[in-house]
Amino acid sequence: MSIGRHILTALAIAPDGSVAGSSDVRINEADPTHGQIAITLVDPAHRGHRLGMALKIATRDNALATYPDLRAVDTCNAEVNDHMNAVNEALGYRSIETLLELQKKL
Ligand SMILES: CC(C)(COP(=O)(O)OP(=O)(O)OC[C@H]1O[C@@H](n2cnc3c(N)ncnc32)[C@H](O)[C@@H]1OP(=O)(O)O)[C@@H](O)C(=O)NCCC(=O)NCCS
Repeated sequence: MSIGRHILTALAIAPDGSVAGSSDVRINEADPTHGQIAITLVDPAHRGHRLGMALKIATRDNALATYPDLRAVDTCNAEVNDHMNAVNEALGYRSIETLLELQKKL
């Protein structure tokens, strides 16, 4: 059964054919003006080549081409994740809320 949620994914492929990184944008048919990024990930062996930024640009461009009414994309990240936060800032993402998460070690 379809729930109307579409996931546009970009993959970075290394010269040996393995996946070096990935990123996505999720868009619900109920509101195609809004997208959400779930995860951006680069294999540690391939970090330092701006693949995270390239993947986020690729999925944004694909989402805009597919959903021309798209107006905003949300992404979330830990405050301590300097590398991802640097990418987000360079791409123009701005903080809209801070989420306090609590963890109990078992
Ligand atoms: C965030 C992430 C995608 C960035 O990777 P990237 O695109 O290769 O990063 P950049 O090319 O912008 O790297 C810039 C510098 O930071 C370093 N770097 C990037 N990520 C690093 C990490 N997690 N730990 C240590 N150093 C890191 C790079 O080696 C590079 O160093 P240099 O300038 O001396 O060459 C990657 O760190 C990652 O996959 N992290 C785990 C997943 C994650 O936290 N995702 C975000 C939440 S969804």
